[in-house]
Amino acid sequence: MTNEGNDSSLDIRGGDPKLPAKCASESKVEMSQQMMPSDANPLGNVHGGHVMKLIDEAGGLAAMRHARRPVVTVAMDSITFLSPVRVGHLVTLRASVNWVGRSSIEVGIRVEAENPVTGEITHTNSAFAVFVAMDDYDRPCPVPPLILETEEDRRRWAEAEERQQLRLQRSKRKIK
Ligand SMILES: CC(C)(COP(=O)(O)OP(=O)(O)OC[C@H]1O[C@@H](n2cnc3c(N)ncnc32)[C@H](O)[C@@H]1OP(=O)(O)O)[C@@H](O)C(=O)NCCC(=O)NCCS
Repeated sequence: MTNEGNDSSLDIRGGDPKLPAKCASESKVEMSQQMMPSDANPLGNVHGGHVMKLIDEAGGLAAMRHARRPVVTVAMDSITFLSPVRVGHLVTLRASVNWVGRSSIEVGIRVEAENPVTGEITHTNSAFAVFVAMDDYDRPCPVPPLILETEEDRRRWAEAEERQQLRLQRSKRKIK
């Protein structure tokens, strides 16, 4: 793929080559929120659906910062809750772009919960979600290519590409 206007010495992949490529570090999101009683069941355990909403928000923000366009969520992979989140805990979500297609963006989101009294931090879950950038007429639109800076970025890209292929196979589509 050519990347018009982009530095050819960089490892630049996906997206629209006419748009300036961006690194994942430029769109990365970190979001923290204390869990309130309204987020939880009567026993003080936070609803899984509330954590999923935060995952969607953090992931969507990272995708929007990459695309600088509004985005919609098109897919979210299965989520396993590894440990409970309690009322009063400080939940921190870290979201970062792993892969970009033409209009689609895979974001990885890691969720941690901190007990602010003891300082104990637990990894509650990790999730992968795909967002699609939308134009002014609510149609999918091209996004900037992604610059892969490190071996870690390349590993994430390769794994995300495989996941996207599986998602599209499941919905009987192909990566364009
Ligand atoms: C997202 C949406 C605009 C895609 O519309 P579409 O007609 O399928 O458009 P396209 O075929 O051009 O697909 C757009 C992109 O989505 C990707 N995509 C579509 N279905 C997908 C799926 N199941 N998993 C992952 N990616 C998917 C396509 O591969 C394509 O990516 P690319 O441009 O990088 O190649 C449309 O499905 C939609 O509006 N969905 C509802 C979104 C929403 O409301 N989300 C909130 C739910 S509560």
